[in-house]
Amino acid sequence: MSGEITFTIDGVQVSGQAGQTILQAAALANIYIPHLCAKRGLSPWGSCRVCTVLVNGRPQAACIQPIADGILVENDTENLRAMRRELVEMLFVEGNHFCPFCEKSGNCELQAMGYRLGMLAPQYPYFFPVRDVDASHPDLFLDRNRCILCARCVRASQELDGKHAYGFVGRGAHKHVAANSTSGLGGTDAAVSDMASEICPVGSLMKKRVGYAVPIGQRMYDSKPIGSDIEKGAQPAQAGGAR
Ligand code: FES
Repeated sequence: MSGEITFTIDGVQVSGQAGQTILQAAALANIYIPHLCAKRGLSPWGSCRVCTVLVNGRPQAACIQPIADGILVENDTENLRAMRRELVEMLFVEGNHFCPFCEKSGNCELQAMGYRLGMLAPQYPYFFPVRDVDASHPDLFLDRNRCILCARCVRASQELDGKHAYGFVGRGAHKHVAANSTSGLGGTDAAVSDMASEICPVGSLMKKRVGYAVPIGQRMYDSKPIGSDIEKGAQPAQAGGAR
């Protein structure tokens, strides 16, 4: 087929189309490459680095690296698992993530990734940053304590909703998601029906008045690990979609 590209992931031959990323081609071949900021339907972003693989021996972010004929991709190795685990640990200590008290628990991709990668207590000191919660919107709230700066809400608002309700301000440790209004999220045109309102991987952008509608123990990752939908060849549900 014209444009078909063949390469290997952990020794398994995979085919894809020109223009696909390694992450997309892998998912179509039912190979799970852990990822957090990537999401099906959104433009590649490349910020979390959890999807790092080795391409011909060099580290590359699978969500932004295009496939090429004959490349040798290493994905599921002990070294890469350890590196991803450290990245996820850093995300945990950099924010304020208290899973037992978070409504997203069981549906949270960060928490699920920690479990999948075998994370125990983080080896790094907690930052305990002081961050604002924006509860000014009638139907949504933005809790920056749990934000991992994946930009899914920013991208979804622009690319899927045709709005610009969210953006980033600040630099380095002070970088955070901001609402596009001086009066906070409530002053924007963000709506609970927006795709951006559905797409947060953690408990940062959440809907009001639906907390705990699904009991703990019956949530997405309570019974199956993140990525198992891709490995089983099912259409990805809310999370982990990279196809
Ligand atoms: Fe690739 Fe985040 S950098 S999923």
